[in-house]
Amino acid sequence: MADKGRFPHYMIKEIFDQPQGLRDAIEPRVSLEEGIVKLDEVRISPEELRALRRINIVASGTSRHAGMAGQYMIQELTNIPVDVDYASEFEYRNPLIGRGELTIVITQSGETADTTAAQREARAKGSRTIAISNVVDSTIAREADGVIYTNAGPEISIASTKAFTAQMAVLFLFALYLGQVREKLSKEQMRRYIRELLELPGNVETVLQSAPECEQLGEKYHKVQDFLFLGRAIHYPIAMDGALKLKEVSYIHAEGYPTGETKHGPNALIDESLPVVMIATCDRNDPGSVLRYEKNLANIKGFKEQSGRVIAIATQGDETIRRIADHTIFVPEAQELLSPILEIVPLQLFAYYMTVRKGLDVDRPRNLVKSVMLE
Ligand code: AGP
Repeated sequence: MADKGRFPHYMIKEIFDQPQGLRDAIEPRVSLEEGIVKLDEVRISPEELRALRRINIVASGTSRHAGMAGQYMIQELTNIPVDVDYASEFEYRNPLIGRGELTIVITQSGETADTTAAQREARAKGSRTIAISNVVDSTIAREADGVIYTNAGPEISIASTKAFTAQMAVLFLFALYLGQVREKLSKEQMRRYIRELLELPGNVETVLQSAPECEQLGEKYHKVQDFLFLGRAIHYPIAMDGALKLKEVSYIHAEGYPTGETKHGPNALIDESLPVVMIATCDRNDPGSVLRYEKNLANIKGFKEQSGRVIAIATQGDETIRRIADHTIFVPEAQELLSPILEIVPLQLFAYYMTVRKGLDVDRPRNLVKSVMLE
């Protein structure tokens, strides 16, 4: 799996590997018929999981963005409070954690120095730890109480793509598992969520068909110097990772921001020279999602009134967004907590095509390494 096959670069291969990566992360761990999630590798007893008071998630870069999405998943499905920290900052804030708490460290490589140090700090303070890693027997995996491997296959390109979507799928699985152990979720709810999870790989296949449109956006926007990526709630981490993908491979400055924050300053930046990429999907079965969607519509109209250009990620069939945004990439309608796994795919493709159009080495961006083993 560690070669490019029919693809010109590892990054585009790994973007297209995602449906298989998700199948390998999800299918061995669920039974739709029984309505259960099986995560024995967690190696923390159901009694301890039932007694958990709080969960900390600690990671770096893209893995922390997965943790930010995981915070919404775990809180929504279990009502356990979750905090998310930069691994590189964790030691400075003298985290008040200890027994009866769980620290989840997320790391593709399992060797990131900041994340290794953070896990050691959490364990020294008495917290149990679970590692979500893509590399078997990595340092961080070996030092954790329990390990959930993402099974995404070797990720060679410095920009993390398939490991990221697999991390979010594993976090959703863990949230379901906690909900199951703590008897927060009925069998009917478990079956509904498991069915949505099993549909994810096929839905990602559908999103990958938008690659030609993303390539055209790369052609149109590759000379732009600055972008703003916006998302609300669980979609904010996706805006953050869309911005990180673009900046780390194309060297174009990009910021991820909560959509609601633009009126507190960044709105001064938005005009014809600074395009906005906004996640504006809607899960019509989720009242909160519908409310956020209405606000997103108002934001897009406002940006257009100030000569802004808007690239929207919207739900398939949304003619309203198509009419008001400059460009729209559609993703299939999905459960609010799982739609981030679909939304990141066009942003990965956009970053890839922008970089290739600029003639840069998309797999080996300057100044970066795949596993940051220095603090
Ligand atoms: C992701 O695109 C980046 N290359 C980088 O932010 C990465 O996510 C970060 O260094 C964490 O790496 P890890 O997941 O291996 O710990």
